[in-house]
Amino acid sequence: MARIIRHTEQAPQRIPMADIKADLYLCRCGLSQNGIFCDGSHRATKDEVPGATYHYSRSEGVLQRTIIVPTNIPTPVLDETVAEEIGGAQ
Ligand code: FES
Repeated sequence: MARIIRHTEQAPQRIPMADIKADLYLCRCGLSQNGIFCDGSHRATKDEVPGATYHYSRSEGVLQRTIIVPTNIPTPVLDETVAEEIGGAQ
């Protein structure tokens, strides 16, 4: 599976070392709204199907997903959209 994610930031986010007091979890799914840090948004990816490509977008805090199915995937799920409330980290 793959994800198409639109990023609009053009500068880094400074994290003062004094603010680091516990384990850090870095986002690897690309959906976090907390910079490079995990905010729990990855939960929306748990049922992604291998071979499909997903496009995620947000509207008023709600994460929406569109599945883009390549023609070589036998199950024709063409335009499924799901909305999931975003909770806290992990
Ligand atoms: S890994 Fe991306 S939000 Fe958790």
